[in-house]
Amino acid sequence: MIGRLRRLMERVVPGMVRERFARIATHPGRDQRRIGPAVAKELGYDADEIDRLPASVTESFAGVGCPLSLVEIRPGETVLDLGSGAGLDSILAAGKVGPSGRVLGIDFTPEMIERARRNVAAVGLANVTFIDCSIETLPAANETVDVAFCNGLFNLCPDKPRALAEVYRVLKPGGRFAIADVLLEDSVSPEVVARKGAWSD
Ligand SMILES: C[S@@+](CC[C@H](N)C(=O)[O-])C[C@H]1O[C@@H](n2cnc3c(N)ncnc32)[C@H](O)[C@@H]1O
Repeated sequence: MIGRLRRLMERVVPGMVRERFARIATHPGRDQRRIGPAVAKELGYDADEIDRLPASVTESFAGVGCPLSLVEIRPGETVLDLGSGAGLDSILAAGKVGPSGRVLGIDFTPEMIERARRNVAAVGLANVTFIDCSIETLPAANETVDVAFCNGLFNLCPDKPRALAEVYRVLKPGGRFAIADVLLEDSVSPEVVARKGAWSD
């Protein structure tokens, strides 16, 4: 039963997630959820840093925390932003690694990847690349990444052990990993379960 439910989730959830984040990438103003620059500031991002970025970078921000405040990123390092969305964290991380480092953002919603690429071009960064792929098949060789982080990704992954195993595969020995995410502390009410797409609101 549990195996069957899991297989069903693995088939159905990615399509629903893509649909939802495609909308946030293309029409952020129409979304009722907690997204955008004001939310980023509430979550602990530096207000001046957010205000200095073009609106196209910040208005599709859909994170749930501030992962860059949880992990040290040093000049020259290779950094992986998992579920990079419109690219806000990748762009901020690029400033920390500097021109000798690189940031790779991955996301499985093509509209988010397109928006992130436009955003990086708009701010003129050459050391950030975005790739359309799932966290379950990362486009990086074993033990090549210094720092991996994610912002609001894991709650959306039906197979969390597989996703985690993939992150550990690409991290260098001694590499760092920071997760900002939502956690369930108690049971979910039947009403919330019944509301399609209510997860991670
Ligand atoms: C809550 S949003 C956060 C986006 C971004 N990190 C931010 O802070 O604005 C989660 C992102 O993860 C992506 N995502 C969800 N599941 C994924 C998966 N299995 N593999 C790759 N990306 C995924 C979604 O497309 C979405 O852009």
